[in-house]
Amino acid sequence: MKKDIENRADIELLVNTFYEKVKADKQLGFIFEEIAQINWSAHLPAMCNFWENILFYTGSYTGNPMNLHKHLDQITRLNDANFDQWNKLFLGTVNELFEGEKAEMAGSRAISISKIIKQKLSDHRKGDTASDL
Ligand code: HEM
Repeated sequence: MKKDIENRADIELLVNTFYEKVKADKQLGFIFEEIAQINWSAHLPAMCNFWENILFYTGSYTGNPMNLHKHLDQITRLNDANFDQWNKLFLGTVNELFEGEKAEMAGSRAISISKIIKQKLSDHRKGDTASDL
């Protein structure tokens, strides 16, 4: 029987395991490594804060992910397949490591945030096109 996500150490395990998969992923790896040239030692703790805030309402995340994804989307379009793959790897990692109420919450929040990011990127692109006319 797997345990639920209970504390910061569990979130670190989830986040670190997930991004190991992302790095190794054919579709997503290059976006992080080549395009964003991500500083993992800053990104991983930021993502732990983000998920800790979502699951345990700690107020520990204060960044602006929408702006970061908008910026990224202008360099390389983040398409539906990218989001499907992100969701697949994230849900796969949650389910492989944990089960319970918080684990379900992590999965469902990931899917809903993913939809929101996709929608906002799409609105932002339309806005850009309109202002170019
Ligand atoms: C196509 C799917 C996605 C890709 C390729 C992607 C890629 C990235 C990259 C490269 C960054 C770093 C940007 C930078 O620091 O310059 C980033 C930041 C971030 N991503 Fe995503 N992302 C995706 C989906 C998601 C989803 C679905 C979530 C949430 C459920 C999410 C949460 C975040 C957060 C919170 C940050 C900001 C961390 C900080 O404040 O430094 N991402 N993403």
